[in-house]
Parts: sequence; structure tokens; C-alpha cells
Amino acid sequence: MNYNQNDIKTVFSEEQIQQRVNEISVEIEETYQSKPVLTLLVVMKGAFLFASDLIKKLNLNVRIEFIEVSSYGERGTLSGQLSLRKEPDLDFANQHILIIEDIIDTGQTAEFLQKYLEEKHPASIEWCLLLQKHEEPEGVKPKFVGFRAPDKFLIGYGLDYKERYRNLPFIGYLESL
Ligand code: IMP
Ligand code: MG
Repeated sequence: MNYNQNDIKTVFSEEQIQQRVNEISVEIEETYQSKPVLTLLVVMKGAFLFASDLIKKLNLNVRIEFIEVSSYGERGTLSGQLSLRKEPDLDFANQHILIIEDIIDTGQTAEFLQKYLEEKHPASIEWCLLLQKHEEPEGVKPKFVGFRAPDKFLIGYGLDYKERYRNLPFIGYLESL
């Protein structure tokens, strides 16, 4: 079944996103070019399209790891309990880590991940966010941010509503929601 185009309002177009991804990739290269290796930690599932577009553009020595935190689950827009669904295999001690995440809303997920990673004693932890909804959460200062998000429940380019719409090449919201 096709999705209903008329119900989706575009907030950031495919072109806007791709241009911003290019700009951020340059910032990341400049920041990490003197480091021997950078560990990219992709937060599943929401960051998967952003990460794949961004990572291809980086002319750096990188290691790629995935982690999954469950927060919203299948319960639509209601925030739930946090737990780690996918434990990373790579060693983080003395490594430079860049976390690639889709969006920070309440900051609960970011604070949970930040604490988890600090316990692994990396050389540094930074955040690369596609979207930032509110002010910075406690203890988390995103270094790279794609866009400031409007106060809407956003879908597309990795972001889901009840596991749907992740495949949209743009970011928008459902008018009927
Ligand atoms: P937080 O813990 O409230 O900051 O929520 C973070 C997680 O909730 C993100 O990693 C997303 O997966 C999800 N999330 C938050 N806001 C949205 C949204 O507007 N659309 C889709 N997912 C969202
Ligand atoms: Mg997420």
C-alpha cells in the first residue's frame, strides 16, 4: 500500500538535507583529521539513513558500530522505559567516539547513552544530531546539529511513526496526527 502523500507536510526537503549533510561532513573532517581513528556509533534505527549518507562523505579513518536503545517502541509518540537492545562489540577505551543520532527530544535517551559511554573511558565523546527539538539536555552538548526541529512529531529520513515512514527521503509530519 502507498502512503498518503496528501497527509504528509514537508519540513526539510531531500535537497536541504543532502546539503546540510555535506556541510556537516566537512565540519567532522576538520575536527577529527588529526586523530588516528574515529569511532562512529550509530544509534539504531532512527539514524540509519542520516548515518549512511554522512559516513560515505567522510575522508577519515573510521570504525563503525551500532547501538540500539528502546524508548518509544511501538507505542506511538509516548515515551517509555529505556534499555539497551544492541550492545556494542567494539572497545571504546581511549577511543574518540562520535555518536550519530536522529533526534533529541526530552534528552532521556541521550543522557542514558552518554552515561553508558562515559563508563567505558573513551578519549572523547561527541554528538552528531540530525535534529534537535528543545534545548540541550543535561550533560550532553551536541557538537554537530543538522537542523533545529519544530515542535511536531517528525517522520521520514529514518524517523518513524509506529515503525512506518522511515524510508521517506525528506523530513515531515503527519497532518492528521
Ligand atoms: P528522547 O529520549 O525523548 O530525547 O527521545 C529520543 C528518541 O525518541 C529519538 O532517538 C527518536 O528515536 C525518538 N523520537 C523523538 N522525537 C521524535 C519525533 O519527532 N519523531 C520520531 N521519533 C522521535
Ligand atoms: Mg532514536
